[in-house]
Amino acid sequence: MTNTELQSRAKTLREEIEQHNRRYHQLDAPIISDAEYDGLMRELEALEQAHPELRTADSPTQRVGAAVSGDFAQVTHAIPMLSLSNAFADEGVELDQPEFSVEPKIDGLALSLRYEDGMLVRAATRGDGETGEDVTHSVRTIGVIPLRLAGDGWPAVLEVRGEVYMPKAGFAAYNERALARGEKPLINPRNGAAGSVRQQDPKIAASRPLAFFAYGVGEVSGGAIADRHSKTLATLQQWGMPISPQAGTALGLEGCLSYYRELGDARAELPYEIDGAVYKLDRYDQQGAMGFISRAPRWALAHKYPAEEATTILQAIEVQVGRTGAITPVARLQPVFVGGVTVSNATLHNFDEVGRKDLRIGDTVIVRRAGDVIPQVMGVVLEKRPEGAVVPAIPDHCPVCNSPLERPEGEAVLRCTGGLICAAQRKEALRHYASRKAMDIEGLGDKLVEQLVDQNLVHRLDDLYRLSVDDFQSLERMGEKSARNLVEQIEGSKTTTLDRLLFALGIREVGESTARSLARHYGSLPPLMAASVEELTEVADVGPVVASRIHDFFAEERNREIIRTLIDEAGLNWPDKPPAQALEGPLLGQTVVLTGTLSMPRDRAKALLEGLGAKVSGSVSKKTAMVIAGAEAGSKLTKAESLGVPVLDEAQFQAMLAEHGVTP
Ligand code: IVH
Repeated sequence: MTNTELQSRAKTLREEIEQHNRRYHQLDAPIISDAEYDGLMRELEALEQAHPELRTADSPTQRVGAAVSGDFAQVTHAIPMLSLSNAFADEGVELDQPEFSVEPKIDGLALSLRYEDGMLVRAATRGDGETGEDVTHSVRTIGVIPLRLAGDGWPAVLEVRGEVYMPKAGFAAYNERALARGEKPLINPRNGAAGSVRQQDPKIAASRPLAFFAYGVGEVSGGAIADRHSKTLATLQQWGMPISPQAGTALGLEGCLSYYRELGDARAELPYEIDGAVYKLDRYDQQGAMGFISRAPRWALAHKYPAEEATTILQAIEVQVGRTGAITPVARLQPVFVGGVTVSNATLHNFDEVGRKDLRIGDTVIVRRAGDVIPQVMGVVLEKRPEGAVVPAIPDHCPVCNSPLERPEGEAVLRCTGGLICAAQRKEALRHYASRKAMDIEGLGDKLVEQLVDQNLVHRLDDLYRLSVDDFQSLERMGEKSARNLVEQIEGSKTTTLDRLLFALGIREVGESTARSLARHYGSLPPLMAASVEELTEVADVGPVVASRIHDFFAEERNREIIRTLIDEAGLNWPDKPPAQALEGPLLGQTVVLTGTLSMPRDRAKALLEGLGAKVSGSVSKKTAMVIAGAEAGSKLTKAESLGVPVLDEAQFQAMLAEHGVTP
């Protein structure tokens, strides 16, 4: 690049970064991801490093954030609130000092809390680092922040610094409620936190599930604090300040890096969002000796994790037809790297959601993939909407079989009315029937299912048992050996269990566990097929909606005919059992939730509990009788604690089993 080109690139970068700063810090409306922002910042820093003459006094590299908006009273920080230098890869970490305080980098909003004589007198945002906004009115509503410090011995003036955040469970619950009311959901927990605190009306913050972790101190006078950071955090905790349970200490670079890896492994399970690990030289005298570079101290470093959010282009919305005819809109995205994988599709659940999120084809959207959770489209960057962006059409006919779609009353989902004449539904039904937890027909994969349905070899489930080696050999890429294997597998699936078959039939709302309850309750098929809706609701786990789905399924002549053929002609068989009497056991009627890692396999723990009459559920609610929390339990444990549900650790669980005469 020529000098003029370099100059103009630096100017463009400065302007762009300033604009993004303003959007992020003042408007709570960022239009690029953190990773993209960091990219721009790094480019400018590198440019200025190589050509110091390009560095201007007002360059964003020379200050922390952006100026505050005029809406709030301004607070000048006695000691500037700094930011952290980022390291993006292991090689970027270049500290060799021995003792570090290691902490999660919490993804929220930085706060300064000023205590005078132990009383909270003011809360301020970071703003540009020099001057922030007075948000005392909002912050006073955050339950975990003490209005008065506990214990004694605190300095006359103590400024606590930390991060206000929205716990994942609170964020999810908030969004669930918002969606149910037809309100716009929050894009992510960080926006949820920032947007709640920076509100004129404190009722907003009060109504949102906010929390806080302290990570340091600012001004301290009229008293002293410890000589190292980790001790300060411990003292703050004694004074009633929440400190992240994941904060600790580490020795040297090795210690920091293994903390980084461990925290990274635990990231998805933590009850709050983090975007990195922070290493701080623990001893204040060593911190003092290190000093600062422009916008950050040299004694602290943020080591980031890969971003869980990114922006990309929504190229199209296509629809998929599920096993039960449910029409699901799927976002086709310009491929984007997020949460460690390249994402090019994301489910949109239903068309209501498409409408609520106001998605248009061509929009720039925020895509999120956290942990192993399937990618989601969180929202639109309205500022980047191209002219003429098209509102996606809501289909009225099935894209596969062209049958009309219907929307049953009270449901958000559109459904294809084609039933099994719809090839998409036939394929899904067959795929489900053959799946591992259903009839477990190994080798009958997606490609094969496609061909069997497309070539009209399988119309109904029972057709499967009429297929010959020749039929399979007529399909693409099918040798004689594989064809024989498949026929053998299908043959083998005839000897089965009632619960597998009930699950495999694909009755709406009947998952594995309901299938198991039904099999246990009735013991054999005829009484189940004859049961009324009312009788069905007596089965554990079956409510009126599920009961009527089951009833409708068996009332359908076509389904009865398929079942008859499966048994009489194909020869499906299973051992019948006497119907279960009302279940018994000391834990009868109690719902138990397992979370974290136990020393025995999860399935085993579940079976033991069920043997005692308990129902094992995957989610915690007020009705949960107890939560059994193994090592590294995360959000379910937090939720149980917040609901006051009794929690047993592994030892207590073992003791309970022993008490009931069960040996694991
Ligand atoms: S220390 C001088 N510790 O990250 C160091 N910051 O760019 C000042 N953050 O706005 C910050 N978790 O709000 C520190 N454990 C932690 C943190 C943390 C999150 C935020 C902080 C600041 C930004 C730094």
